[in-house]
Order: sequence, then C-alpha cells, then structure tokens
Amino acid sequence: MTAVRAWLEDRLALGGLFSRLVDGRVELKGAWLKTTGLTCLVLILVECVTGIVLSQFYTPSPAAAFKNVQAINADPVGRFVRGVHHWGSAALILLALLSVIRMFFSAEYKKRYDLVWICTLIFLQLVLFFQLTGHILPWDTNATTTASVEAGFAGNVWVLGPLLKRAILGGSAVGSNTLIRWYGIHVIVLPAALLLLAAIPLCAYRLRASRREEEAADTAETPGSEEYYPNHMAREMMAALAVFLIVAFLAFRRGAPLELEATAANLGGDYQSLAEWYVLPLHALTLLPPFNKAAIEPLGTVILPALLILVLLVLPFIDRNPSRKLSSRPFALTMGLLTLFTTAGLYGYAFVKERTMAVKQAERIALMTGEKQPELNAQLVATGKKLYEDQGCSGCHSIKGNGGNAGPQLTLEGRQRPEKDWQMEHLIKPASKVPGSTMPAYAQLSKEQIAALAEYMVSLR
Ligand code: HEC
Repeated sequence: MTAVRAWLEDRLALGGLFSRLVDGRVELKGAWLKTTGLTCLVLILVECVTGIVLSQFYTPSPAAAFKNVQAINADPVGRFVRGVHHWGSAALILLALLSVIRMFFSAEYKKRYDLVWICTLIFLQLVLFFQLTGHILPWDTNATTTASVEAGFAGNVWVLGPLLKRAILGGSAVGSNTLIRWYGIHVIVLPAALLLLAAIPLCAYRLRASRREEEAADTAETPGSEEYYPNHMAREMMAALAVFLIVAFLAFRRGAPLELEATAANLGGDYQSLAEWYVLPLHALTLLPPFNKAAIEPLGTVILPALLILVLLVLPFIDRNPSRKLSSRPFALTMGLLTLFTTAGLYGYAFVKERTMAVKQAERIALMTGEKQPELNAQLVATGKKLYEDQGCSGCHSIKGNGGNAGPQLTLEGRQRPEKDWQMEHLIKPASKVPGSTMPAYAQLSKEQIAALAEYMVSLR
C-alpha cells in the first residue's frame, strides 16, 4: 500500500489533496441545506453504474427497445436497477433545483462563487437533458408521444422551427433516427459534459476555500461557523445516504413506469399523452392564453425560460449589492418569490386540469398491462358467458382456439379493451366504435344482457 502510494505520489504529486478538499469553514446556519453537493456526486455515480448495467441489456431500435425494457422489468434485479436509475435521476433534478434556490436566496453566487453558481445552473440544465433524452429510451406509448410533443414545441419556434424539429427528431417524425440520436446524446454527449462540469463546482468549493484568507474573514464575521471536516462532511454523508435510501425504497416499491409498446394500435383510440412532472409548469403555460396560440407559444416554451436562465447566469455580474442578507436585497427577494409562486401556480393549474385524465389513463394502462385486475361480478360473467354461447358469438370469434374466425379472436379481449363502456357501446352499435365494422349489432338485447356480455368480454385476460 505504501509502495503504491509512493509510486503515485512520485508521478502525480497528489500529496495534500485530501486535506485541501476538506479544508475550509461552513456556516452552521442552514448547514443541512448545504449538503446537496456530495449527494449529487453520489447520485451521479449511481446513475453511471446503473446506466452502464442497463445498457448491457438494451438495443436502441424501435423493434427491440420496448421488449428489452420489458425483459429488464421482468427480472427482479433488473427492475430494481432500472428503478434506481429512474428515481435517482428525479432526485438529481430536485437536488439541483434545491441548490439553485438555496444559492439564490442566500446570495451564494456573490464574490468568487460566481463560477460555482454558473456551473450549478448548467448542471441543472444537464440533468434535465438527461431526463428528456432518457425518457424516450423505453419506447413505450408515453415515450414517443412526449417526444413528439417536445419536438412540436421546437417546431413552433419562429423561423428556426422546422430546422430545429428536424435536428431533434432526425427526420420528420419520431422514429428510429430519433431513438438513436437521443440515445447517443444520453450515453455519450451528456455524460462527457457532466464529468467536465461536476469537477468544477465540487472541487472549486473546497479548493478555493482552502486558499482564501478572505474566506476566514467572511466566516469569522458570522459567529456560528465550523470546520468542514469532520462535522459537515459527516452531515453530507448522512444526507447522501438518506437520499440514496429513499431512491432505493422507491425503486423497490414502485420500479420505473412502463406503459405499452409504442405501436400504432396502442397509440390509437383513447391514448392521451401526459406531460412529465419536470415539464409540467411549461406545459401548463401552453394551456393558458395567450400562450395557447401556436404563434405565441414559443414565447412561453422557449423565450421566457431562456430569459430566466440567462438572467440567472449573469446575476453575479449585475447584482452589485455586496450584502448577503435577504432583508437588504428586496428586489432579489421579490423576483425570487415571484418566480417560485408562479411555478407553483402553474403546477397547481396543470394538476387540477389534468388530474382526472391522468388517473383514468393510468388505470386503463394498468388494466391493459395486467398490473391491475378489473373488478368483476362473477355471476354477471357467468351470465355473459352463457349469452355468448346462446347468441352464437363463437360462430365468428374464437376463445383459446375454439370458435370461428370471421372476427378477431377474443382470448385476451379484456386486456386489449378493458373498458366496460366501450364493450357495451360496441355491442349495441359496432360501427360507432370501429368504423366500417361488419359485426352484427346486438341492440335488440336488453341492457342487462349487454352489461353481462361486456362483463364477460372484460374478464377474458
Ligand atoms: C358475423 C360475425 C360476428 C358475430 C356473430 C359476432 N361478431 Fe364480434 N366481431 C366481428 C368482426 C368482423 C369484428 C371486427 C370489427 C369490430 O371490431 O367491430 C368483431 C369484433 C368484436 C369485438 C372487438 C374485438 C377487438 O378487440 O377488436 C368484440 C369484443 C366482439 N366482436 C364481441 C362479440 C360478441 C360478444 C358477440 C356475440 C354477442 C359477437 N362479437 C358476435 C364479427 C362477429
């Protein structure tokens, strides 16, 4: 061990690196809020490891991607690894956001921390891009529809729209080129950018602190401060462990979401794409006038967010007020709170507006994937089954290989069309549900009989 150390020291001159990394002082006030750095680092490592594992079982092609992810989900270890990758990325977004909010309100972007501030803002953008590109990889219904919604936003941008959309999609619509392009960005471009970036704030914080005499004066000003090592380091480790445990718990309990394969049949009919939580405020904005008009939409989806990021990036250079106390920064305080409240309001609006649709959709998908079983009345199912035989349905339909083949086989009908309403309306007037249907209408049956037949159809799974 000593020999290896001496050998390394001789070549890299790393001596004193650890003490330099842990040197410096930390204010005791709000110390727990300043534990996001190490937690992010741990989560980045977790994302790298789980990502590499997942990539071994994944091919970025529309024909294979969904089946690969389904197979990963079917294996308990695979499901857990995928869950950790999913929840870990969500935690990273939240932590990056939390860091930005904390740094803004406690004016941590001032003086020589401007570089750390800028890196944190870029870091937030990077984790968001990781989310956006990673979301398409399972190639399920939600992945491809949200991708085309996002590309649609880009396509509506004035003048550059069509060009942007093509660049994002790798063609005119979401397809195999989109998947390969986003996969490449997700596994090569973004990790490289992240590695470069992560090094800066995480090291700069500690490296700078060690050399600055001013720093000593700064923290001496505020009575309650202490050495970074060991207390604050222990705090950071505890925070990292706690966040990791929450991520692992969610991964174990919930896994990562997977809807149905993005085939034309699954995307047709009632399918509605729902915005993901991290784009929900922007999505809400596009529902509100005047942003709900395509011509003005880019103002909400591109210009406003870009302006906000730009203002934050140059903030250390325009905010010349030396004070770090909130009470002497009324303008920053007002703008900060305004942004937070607007975002919260947009969340609330989107939540109220789309909640019922989201619940219904999630239920339908759970019934279709077999995750959830429909509530059935056994007696009604039995009545329906008898009616099915009496009415001669089996002349045209087969169940588990028994019956005719003039109509589609119904062995898994309850999975394919789990809604009883749909079944009842289809039986009464097939053409109202399936345009051009040649199945005879059963409008002459009583409402109870129709309900029983529908119950039986839904039970076939
Ligand atoms: C003359 C042949 C014929 C008879 C009899 C018939 N069907 Fe059909 N059925 C079809 C055809 C053709 C389709 C495909 C068009 C459509 O979906 O409406 C169909 C479709 C269906 C579907 C939708 C399948 C899907 O998921 O796409 C259901 C459910 C169904 N039939 C149930 C019944 C029941 C229950 C009966 C008896 C009460 C019945 N059918 C009698 C021909 C028939």
